[in-house]
Amino acid sequence: MNRLGVNLAGLNLSNPTMLASGILGYSVETLESIVEGGAGAVVTKSIGLEPRDGYANPTVVQVSCGLINAIGLPNPGIEEFTSEIRAAKTALNVPLIVSVYGFSEEEYATVSKKAADAGADAVELNVSCPHVKETGSEIGQSLEILSKVVRKVKEVMEKPVFVKLSHNVTNLTDIAEVAAKSGADALTVINTVKAMAIDAETAMPILSNKRGGLSGPAIKPIAIRSVYDIYERVKTPIIGCGGIANWRDAVEFLLAGASAIQIGTAIALRGPNVFSAITRGMETYLKRKGVKSVKEIVGLSHRR
Ligand SMILES: Cc1cc2nc3c(=O)[nH]c(=O)nc-3n(C[C@H](O)[C@H](O)[C@H](O)COP(=O)(O)O)c2cc1C
Repeated sequence: MNRLGVNLAGLNLSNPTMLASGILGYSVETLESIVEGGAGAVVTKSIGLEPRDGYANPTVVQVSCGLINAIGLPNPGIEEFTSEIRAAKTALNVPLIVSVYGFSEEEYATVSKKAADAGADAVELNVSCPHVKETGSEIGQSLEILSKVVRKVKEVMEKPVFVKLSHNVTNLTDIAEVAAKSGADALTVINTVKAMAIDAETAMPILSNKRGGLSGPAIKPIAIRSVYDIYERVKTPIIGCGGIANWRDAVEFLLAGASAIQIGTAIALRGPNVFSAITRGMETYLKRKGVKSVKEIVGLSHRR
């Protein structure tokens, strides 16, 4: 019996853990190492219509309880990337989700369609990147623009469309509701949180872009609250993300209302086997609690 199996917006995952977008490169080999490490699904780095160089180094800085990054969405563009999607689809035996960003609703739709045609099982719309102008969170914080983007992508897609939200907004649950009403099949919650690091010696910001996004254990309580609040508002499945480093963190997200979880920064610190360590721990927890399916604990902390 597989207690950990989940159906996420029509995708069958052998366990609820997923690789979060952007933590590793694009290559099929790195995605394979994540699947061998035990992930139930993988999300690629965000891909746009045109190739993009991203920012100069330094793009990542380690702080006391996480990482701050401002990579700048470097990527080869969707035309070039379709061959990687085809190769990954053949090599991987788990759902492959392609993360997509754009500078207009048409761009999101074009890139999503090309990714799906090349074999992606779903797309995840990055409407929450905190450090690139005119995309990411600049789209995800406007109810009107977000709705247009999600509707446009849904028009051209038969496969599931996930929408990745940012906490860098004042009305997160309104935004989640708009994404859900516009047709999102799942909501990924959350992207990195706006942050910055300054070097006392040089008296300068450390990142070349100066401002970036914080990930890792520091943002876990913020992400848990975001999942909890959204679960109360919408019925759309939630994928929890932010600071998950061990099975207990993963379970907490499920109890808050997530149907699956994504892991990013913990891989940089613990390697791909963090997935199997987490799934083993979840399995033991479910057995100890006498729970037959992981689905039974989703949202359990909301009971009165
Ligand atoms: C180096 C780095 C690069 C990232 N690149 C992307 C990206 O391309 N697209 C995206 O949607 N999120 C990106 N993220 C955000 C992660 O997918 C995730 O939402 C965030 O890091 C919180 O999860 P974590 O604490 O487990 O890392 C990136 C995060 C890091 C640390």
